Amino acid sequence: MKEMLTPLEVMERMVQKLQNYYATHDYKKEGSIQFLLEHKRIPVNCYIIANKESLAFHQGRIDNPTVSVKGTFYNWLALAEGKLNPIFAVFTRKLVFKGDTSFFKVLPRKQLKNPVNVPTDPVTKFEKNTAKYWTKPKKVIILNASPRAEDGYTEFYLAPFIEGMKKHTEVEEIHLGKYKINPCKGCFSCWMNVPGECIYREKDDHHELADKIYQADLTVYAFPIYADGLPGILKNFLDRAVSRAYPYMIKGMKRVRHPRRFINPNHAMVVFSICGFFEMKNFDPVRSYFKALSHNRHTPVVGEIYRTTAVGIYGSPFHYKLLNHLMSALKDAGEQIVLNGKINRKTQKIITKKIKGTAKDLDQINQWWDERKGKGELNY
Ligand SMILES: Cc1cc2nc3c(=O)[nH]c(=O)nc-3n(C[C@H](O)[C@H](O)[C@H](O)COP(=O)(O)O)c2cc1C
Repeated sequence: MKEMLTPLEVMERMVQKLQNYYATHDYKKEGSIQFLLEHKRIPVNCYIIANKESLAFHQGRIDNPTVSVKGTFYNWLALAEGKLNPIFAVFTRKLVFKGDTSFFKVLPRKQLKNPVNVPTDPVTKFEKNTAKYWTKPKKVIILNASPRAEDGYTEFYLAPFIEGMKKHTEVEEIHLGKYKINPCKGCFSCWMNVPGECIYREKDDHHELADKIYQADLTVYAFPIYADGLPGILKNFLDRAVSRAYPYMIKGMKRVRHPRRFINPNHAMVVFSICGFFEMKNFDPVRSYFKALSHNRHTPVVGEIYRTTAVGIYGSPFHYKLLNHLMSALKDAGEQIVLNGKINRKTQKIITKKIKGTAKDLDQINQWWDERKGKGELNY
């Protein structure tokens, strides 16, 4: 288990960091700085010895330091970070200095200028205004993440959508559940040890699938709602993409994100999800999730298809008319996305048509479940 760093360890780390900049520092002198600090009523006594070559950290006290500082550890940290003005600190006696305070100049204040070569991956015009810069995708990947694959309702509702897309472009469907995807174990070996390479690279299918997606122009993430979110197999797949980003952080659209190792500048995504309950609110968590994912993957969402009561509509004779309209609208949506990079309002309205969840609706669904009790049926 990770232990909290002690104030002395924090001080030692700070001195080690300063030591990195000391070689090029233009103010080097011999002498010492004594810290007589206090944290949670425990003394934090340590000192730095400076000479022409180095800064050295020591615990305890030194006789006749060049300068000493006394106060709380937090106040010293605030001063070091530039959040506490030194004149104000002296005036209010938050920190008490003795000796030659000019000697603090031995501590480098400016860090070396941008020694890190951060890859550039700026916000694109396509990301900002996808519809304006939309071009017909040459290839679409449908990532069907229903663990029930071909037997699922996700597949049933996807079929007309795929049919619509296929009228205008090449579409390939992948059933994620048929592939082996290990969950990310958070080791960051792909950022620290072998950049870009996951420890599971040769051991499972993530790399192959991620590469396929990267080469297409549009990805449709299709999945049933599980426990108010994504099914685990999809979350595991998405988590693993950490190896495909750089560890560095850059400014995105009002938020920070990572630059990508693989850039397909016009790649977009569609979210396609179904659920058992009645209210659109059931999609709120995945809607927010994909909003964040879209930003952090530099990949705009060009369409969202959310269908509530997916099992109920399929099974009830009273929803047969709605089901037919829905299937046609899904086909239209597939065509519209490919051609225009968006779904029109009329189509969207049919897809999301509300089923109230009246007492009669609930009765029907409850009976449906009751009839299946103990029948040994697995493919509902
Ligand atoms: C483990 C599990 C969790 C589920 N959680 C939810 C949920 O939180 N909200 C909801 O509306 N439906 C939930 N459902 C219902 C599914 O979204 C619904 O049955 C869907 O049609 C299944 O699609 P599939 O046939 O492609 O697997 C859940 C189903 C399963 C199996």
